[in-house]
Amino acid sequence: MGAPHILHLIPLILVCISSSFARTIPSSFHHSKSLRKTSHQLIKDLNLHPNLDVNILKSYNHSSYIDQELKVTQSEIVEKRLSLSVLGDSGATVHDLAQHAGYYRIQHTVDARMFYFFFESRKSKADPVVIWLTGGPGCSSELALFYENGPFKLTNNLSLIWNDYGWDKVSNLIFVDQPTGTGFSYSSSDEDIRHDETGVSNDLYFFLQAFFKAHPDYVNNDFYITGESYAGHYIPAFAARVNEGNKNKEGIHINLKGFGIGNGITDPGIQYKSYTDYALANKLISQSDYTRINRQIPECEVTTKECGTTGTTTCIQALDACQQIFDDILNIAGNINYYDIRKQCEGSLCYDFSKMENFLSQTSVKTALGVPSDIDFVSCSDTVHNAMLNDWMRDLEVGIPALLEQGIELLVYAGEYDLICNWLGNLRWVDAMVWSGQKRFVEASNVSFVVGGKEAGVMKNYGPLTFLKVHNAGHMVPMDQPVAALHMLQLWTSGKLTTTRKGVFSSHN
Ligand SMILES: *[C@@H]1O[C@H](CO)[C@@H](O)[C@H](O)[C@H]1NC(C)=O
Ligand SMILES: *[C@@H]1O[C@H](CO)[C@@H](O)[C@H](O)[C@H]1NC(C)=O
Ligand SMILES: *[C@@H]1O[C@H](CO)[C@@H](O)[C@H](O)[C@H]1NC(C)=O
Repeated sequence: MGAPHILHLIPLILVCISSSFARTIPSSFHHSKSLRKTSHQLIKDLNLHPNLDVNILKSYNHSSYIDQELKVTQSEIVEKRLSLSVLGDSGATVHDLAQHAGYYRIQHTVDARMFYFFFESRKSKADPVVIWLTGGPGCSSELALFYENGPFKLTNNLSLIWNDYGWDKVSNLIFVDQPTGTGFSYSSSDEDIRHDETGVSNDLYFFLQAFFKAHPDYVNNDFYITGESYAGHYIPAFAARVNEGNKNKEGIHINLKGFGIGNGITDPGIQYKSYTDYALANKLISQSDYTRINRQIPECEVTTKECGTTGTTTCIQALDACQQIFDDILNIAGNINYYDIRKQCEGSLCYDFSKMENFLSQTSVKTALGVPSDIDFVSCSDTVHNAMLNDWMRDLEVGIPALLEQGIELLVYAGEYDLICNWLGNLRWVDAMVWSGQKRFVEASNVSFVVGGKEAGVMKNYGPLTFLKVHNAGHMVPMDQPVAALHMLQLWTSGKLTTTRKGVFSSHN
């Protein structure tokens, strides 16, 4: 693989579909350099201002960073036990609660170092191990850590405060910065930049091998993969890679029980086609807009089919054709926040995630985390994002049926007010998926997802497959509905998300 693809489209943020960022751009400018200029504006929509475009540091001297304090647990992992001061009460019931940050030197790369956090469960070491992946592609998982489901949040004066609904309350929780070049992950070589799910899933699989070697106490725990947005691509690929590694006895057996996708992009062919239906139903466009915009669906469909499951040159063409559908909707809908249609983008900001960047850029914080002081935090990387554009329109649904047939659980959930990776497109691909339980899943009745005596969502389930639409939430469900999201994780990982109504669902496996 040579140079990264020509970068026509814009870098995205925590997001799913790149079209989002093109909202102010007339179609005639597609493929023009002016698109690139707007990328900075778009990152500014989230109030992020990374100093660097990507953490590729030519001729970086790694040996200068090995800090005396770092505990070298094994050759590939350098990990540090954190001692952060956190306001409030953790509510921990385990003795000796430990939290770690570390670097994994990724096998089979020139020089890639993957940064991660590992937060032991506040409840029990026997809780499942859950890994979280933020999308972009190219955005750091610390976005979720500090704004969604991590153990703590940031106060206005950049202090840490315990999050009462952190997913570490019911799981041993890992956040990784990936693909290489994102967040605190870095390399000294361009060759370690990833272009597809093969590269991404191998890096993650090798990381898990090293992680469990360093933390053998957790090898037998249940293991779940979770994430959001563009992770709707990463997650199925990563789950399939873990399954393949297990089958081929490549290394440590990983006790993969399930994978969960939140407001993801998994089957673009179906999801792009659903935009106009969602927009019409939510009154973002009129019936005549709907008819007009829908005329673009056939071209989107044909090119997406050609891109298919392998990823060929038509994938960029498909992205371009399909993106037009989304852009047209945004041109009509105006200044809405496409992650949450209840909201407007105010001034130049749709969200403000700047506290995370300010916090992680402090030298004292980097020292506490074992990050070399000369490594910058790259909240979202244009370069990492653009390098993945050929992967965008690929259909990642294809690998899922084989996993379901083995009883590996899939939870697809979506906040109902997200436009960009909306619940309708997600439900449609999940319904359309061909597997032995398809008919029973499609016909399954909707059941209330009840949290604290109130309906927090609507779900359906058959066997290992569950779909959940979450009420009063946009793209980032754990941020908007933290109580419901934590409850969802807890029920799902304990096999109880399916038993809301007795007798309706068969038990797992
Ligand atoms: C890299 O850093 C180590 C430790 O600080 C130092 O001994 C070595 O000379 C450095 N190498 C280069 C090429 O600068
Ligand atoms: C920061 O703000 C919190 C309240 O959000 C307060 O408890 C704490 O004392 C403040 N810390 C400093 C250093 O001002
Ligand atoms: C189940 O709920 C979804 C929306 O969450 C709806 O589109 C679908 O029609 C419902 N199915 C049935 C059988 O009522």
